[in-house]
Amino acid sequence: METRVLPFTDDSIAEAARVILAGEPVAVPTETVYGLAADAADAEAVARIYDAKKRPSFNPLIVHVPDLAAARRMGQFDAEALALARRHWPGPLTLVVPLRKDANIASLVTAGLPTVGLRVPDHSAMQELLRACGRPLAAPSANASGSISPTRAAHVMKSLGGRIPLVIDGGATVRGIESTIVAATGGPLRLLRRGPIEIAAAPASGTRIEAPGQLTSHYAPTKPLRLKARSAESDEYLIGFADIEGDANLSRAGDLVEAASRLFDLLHRADASSKARIAVAPLPDEGLGAAINDRLRRASAGRK
Ligand code: TXA
Ligand code: MG
Repeated sequence: METRVLPFTDDSIAEAARVILAGEPVAVPTETVYGLAADAADAEAVARIYDAKKRPSFNPLIVHVPDLAAARRMGQFDAEALALARRHWPGPLTLVVPLRKDANIASLVTAGLPTVGLRVPDHSAMQELLRACGRPLAAPSANASGSISPTRAAHVMKSLGGRIPLVIDGGATVRGIESTIVAATGGPLRLLRRGPIEIAAAPASGTRIEAPGQLTSHYAPTKPLRLKARSAESDEYLIGFADIEGDANLSRAGDLVEAASRLFDLLHRADASSKARIAVAPLPDEGLGAAINDRLRRASAGRK
C-alpha cells in the first residue's frame, strides 16, 4: 500500500473523512500524539487499526468526540466525571465511563468491556476531522506495536508507512505525551495512566480483581473456553472459523479482519447461550490471528 502524506488543510481533512467513511484508518495529529483514527461504529475499520499496528493483543481504544454533548451520547457521566470533563475538555484527559447501551460503538473498540474511554481533543485537525466525519472516531497512538508514540508525521511514516493509506501532517504535537486516563465507573476515581493533566486520584491497581461490581481491565467470558476445537461437545457453543461452521462463525471466508471485528460480539453471544461451555475453532497464529489467539488464550486460562 502506498501511504500519502498531505499537509493539514480543509481539502486534506475532507479527503481524510472520505477515506475513514470508506472504512480505512487515517493518521491525524492531536495535541498529545498522532492518532490512527477509524469510524468507531465500523468493526472492520477498527480491526484494520489493529492490523496496521501489528498489535499482538486487543486493548480498548480511546473514542474521540467533538464535545461533551457527543461524549454523553456514548457514555454515562456521574457528577465527578462531568466536573472533570467541564474543567479539562477539550484537552489531554481521557475519561473511562460506563458505556451507554444505545451507543453505536463496535465491541472491538472497548475490547468487549462495558466501559468506554472518551476524549475531546484540543487540536483543530482532529476536531475538523470529527466534524467532517460526523461520527466518533476510535484512535490509538499511530505507531506500530512496541515503538514509541509519534509526535510528528515523519514518526508515523517510519512506523506505519506502507501499512495505512493516509497521514495528515499537522507538524509537531504540542504536548508530546499521551493523555491522562481516569476511570469514573463508580466508587472513587482511579488514575489509569499518568499524562499531561494532574488528577488527584489513586492509581489503579493493575489487573487485580476489584470489589464485586467493579470492572476488571479485560473482558473474558464467564464460561470455560476450549481452544482449537474442530467440533462441539454436546454442552458446547462452538465459535467457528472458515470451514469449521459452528453455532456462529467468526469468518466463513477465513478473513482475519472480519474475524477480529466479530470476536467480542460472538464471545458475548456464546456466554449468553444455553450451553455450559464455549469452544473456538483454530485460527492461524499470524497477523490479527495472533491478537485473536492471545485474547482467547487469556480467556481460557484457569477456566479449563
Ligand atoms: O493521547 C492519547 O490518549 C492518544 C491520542 C491519539 O488520543 N491515544 C492513545 O491511545 O494513547 P492508546 O490506544 O495508545 O491508549 C489507549 C489506552 C488503552 O491501552 C487502555 O489502557 C486505555 O486507553 N483505555 C481505553 N479504553 C478503556 C476502557 N474502557 N477501560 C480501561 N482502559 C481503557
Ligand atoms: Mg499507544
